[in-house]
Amino acid sequence: MLASTYSLIFALFSVTVDCSPLPKALVPRLQQLDGETVPDRFAFNDAVPLARTGWTAVADSIQGGDVANRVLDGNANTLWHSEYTPALKALPHTITIDMKKNNWINGFAYLPRQDSSNNGNIGQHTIQVSKDNTNWQQVALGTYGNTKLEKKTLFSSVQARYVRITAYTEAQGTNLAYTSAAEINILSGPDPILPRDTWKVSADSAQAGNAADLAIDGDVDTKWHTPFTGGNLPGYPHTFTIDQGAVTAVSGFSYLPRPDASGPNGRVGKYIIQYTNNTNTWADAASGTWVDDSNPKTVTFPVHWARYWRLRALSEAGNRGPWASAAEINLHDGSSKGVKTPLPASLGQWSETIDFPIVPVAAAVLSNGKVVTWSAQWADSFGGGTGQTQTAIFDPATGKVSQKIVTNTKHDMFCPGISMTADGKVVVTGGNDAAKTSIYTVASDAWASGANMQIKRGYQGQATLSDGRIFTIGGSWSGGYGGQDGTPFKNGEIYSPGANKWTLLPGANVKKILTQDAQGPFRTDNHAWLFGWKGGFAFQAGPSKQMNWFDMRGDGVTTSAGNRGDDNDAMNGNAIMYDAVAGKILTIGGAKDYQETTATANAHIITLGGQGGAVSVTKLTSMKYARSFANSVVLPDGKVLIMGGQHFAKPFSDDTAVLYPELWDPATGKFTVMNPANNPRNYHSVGVLLPDGTVFSGGGGLCGSCTSNHFDAEVFRPPYLFTASGALATRPTITKVSATTVTVGDKIQITTGGTVTSFSLIRMGSATHSINTDQRRIPLTPTKTASGYQITVPGDSGIALPGSWMLFAIQNGVPSVAKTILIKAKPI
Ligand SMILES: *[C@@H]1O[C@H](CO)[C@@H](O)[C@H](O)[C@H]1NC(C)=O
Repeated sequence: MLASTYSLIFALFSVTVDCSPLPKALVPRLQQLDGETVPDRFAFNDAVPLARTGWTAVADSIQGGDVANRVLDGNANTLWHSEYTPALKALPHTITIDMKKNNWINGFAYLPRQDSSNNGNIGQHTIQVSKDNTNWQQVALGTYGNTKLEKKTLFSSVQARYVRITAYTEAQGTNLAYTSAAEINILSGPDPILPRDTWKVSADSAQAGNAADLAIDGDVDTKWHTPFTGGNLPGYPHTFTIDQGAVTAVSGFSYLPRPDASGPNGRVGKYIIQYTNNTNTWADAASGTWVDDSNPKTVTFPVHWARYWRLRALSEAGNRGPWASAAEINLHDGSSKGVKTPLPASLGQWSETIDFPIVPVAAAVLSNGKVVTWSAQWADSFGGGTGQTQTAIFDPATGKVSQKIVTNTKHDMFCPGISMTADGKVVVTGGNDAAKTSIYTVASDAWASGANMQIKRGYQGQATLSDGRIFTIGGSWSGGYGGQDGTPFKNGEIYSPGANKWTLLPGANVKKILTQDAQGPFRTDNHAWLFGWKGGFAFQAGPSKQMNWFDMRGDGVTTSAGNRGDDNDAMNGNAIMYDAVAGKILTIGGAKDYQETTATANAHIITLGGQGGAVSVTKLTSMKYARSFANSVVLPDGKVLIMGGQHFAKPFSDDTAVLYPELWDPATGKFTVMNPANNPRNYHSVGVLLPDGTVFSGGGGLCGSCTSNHFDAEVFRPPYLFTASGALATRPTITKVSATTVTVGDKIQITTGGTVTSFSLIRMGSATHSINTDQRRIPLTPTKTASGYQITVPGDSGIALPGSWMLFAIQNGVPSVAKTILIKAKPI
């Protein structure tokens, strides 16, 4: 079953993006909340449809005149439809597009029928490509939502002549057997941009304060500019040269002119893109003339392998003067198009795209191995607390994504607090319906209402404590700004699951956790990095630079734990307890303000001792990439995978996205850059460890008619799943455990398939808005027994928090698939 899972999920690498109209009523609220509604520059998703002249389509079944070729006729009012009379042809149905020649493609667009019927709208599906109509590669799988909107799936560039979609279900339900499509387009666009951290750039000339470096700093508001003061200004041609430090495969060049707000001077018109290994003899990759506007210009070309690249600018786009300027310059990674250097498995591997019917903005790993995700009231956008939530459950074992709209709790669970209870349930609080509590029970696959919180909250921090209670604090994004307009400061409160009751803790003082955010009270108490710890305490590691202890006794007591070294406020950074036994927390990234600011690459280790005691902070060598809105996941071997995020924090934008994950090794303190994901994962993205040791990375967006909605996920297989030669590593197995429900301090007898060196327990994670307070790792050294191994669960439930954990066996660094263990606190 494992092998089939892998072949299903990991047949290829890929990407998806969907867009849909923003309901008009929402625009003011989005603007009010986040300043900007849509990204305007350097949109990632600029794959465009190929011309379909001469193409043909073939389907397994057709109804009358609704023939397959109608998906290629450019008329959204005609459709292909599978046969329903005289005989109903059962699902699955397949339509195959023949482009008549091999093209480099990286996307598939499906427009459902546009009339009033939903019959035949595709739900669960796979997308495959082929050069010969015989051997097929899967580039995507998943489930589309039942809407009229065009569905776009982006995947890693691949050369193919044939593209087919196979429909397994109808989006509107399982009881019909139709498939239909109004239009199908095949997309082609630039590859992901290459990392620029090794680059040295130079220009023929630069104005003081406008050096060449400023075109590769990820900040679109700074620029390279040739001299514009003094006499004898250097004129055209101008040259901008990149030394990558090593030969790479390059398939495109992007030039972002300076933004409109700063004026047009120096926009490049006529250009040549050149490359070389020796800086003496330059070959041309592309040439042309860019139009005189501030839109990003991307030129794609056949892959060339070279170390040095340059832009030869031959004219100013508006003939306004002798200057050239550039806000950002990028090269595109053509490595997926060449056979010369397949992406090394030693840097991990990404799966094909998994299409979702929603933008997965929140996620929680369940004790049955599935992942429950949700967006908001709508699949692609959010409104103001209307009592319903769009959810989808992903089953890694089958690759299937199911969809459910939850209305019974009358809770719009967008922007909530999340924590997993002592008995493995998911507790979701506040958000758009700011007082509500909803509880998901795995066994019954059902949501139920819990008691309302005492204070209305959205973006609050929330964590399960050693006694199984749940602590929450802050949350001015929803339910009023704390300390303003009659809304109380959003001090802590605590939930007792047994009594189903929230109790205020006026002594858990929110003022101690406030950041100095430029947007004020709306932002300053957001997303506390909370960790349940010994004695029922919670430790708050950030994002404020001051750290704090919360003692829950009585009305609660707040004590400063000092500053997080020299780190500033780090809103939308991450904090990961990678070794709970040693009290170790890794913190990375974030920014001093929620948005419209440059992120940091800062990294620190926080070491906790006893509850309320001294905390030590060690500064690490920074990450390669500055990131806000990233997600980080601790792996069974104690390494931490940091995924996504962007250099310049900007909600609802794919600008300055970091596609390259980094893997942090606690043994060396170093970060190693991994193979790039296909999709930006910024604001509203999630990342969680799956029980098979792979990592789920999804979402981003939820902004209606924007270009940065990501209705999809990808799964990362860390390097430990591969041998040195890139084959799948042999994994240890856990064949038997003596108990799947234990109490802290208990011993567990484990039988394994073969020798193992260590074990670890990782608590099931939950994630939204870069926060995952549930995950933490316990390293375990086993003792050998006659039948296998024995491990001892730590005796302190401040370390081994009550709840569902994944037990991994590890041999030579390779983890097994996990067994689920429920750890209970000692009865008081
Ligand atoms: C640069 O060197 C690499 C080998 O390191 C070679 O494959 C490539 O073709 C060279 N490119 C040019 C432009 O000479």
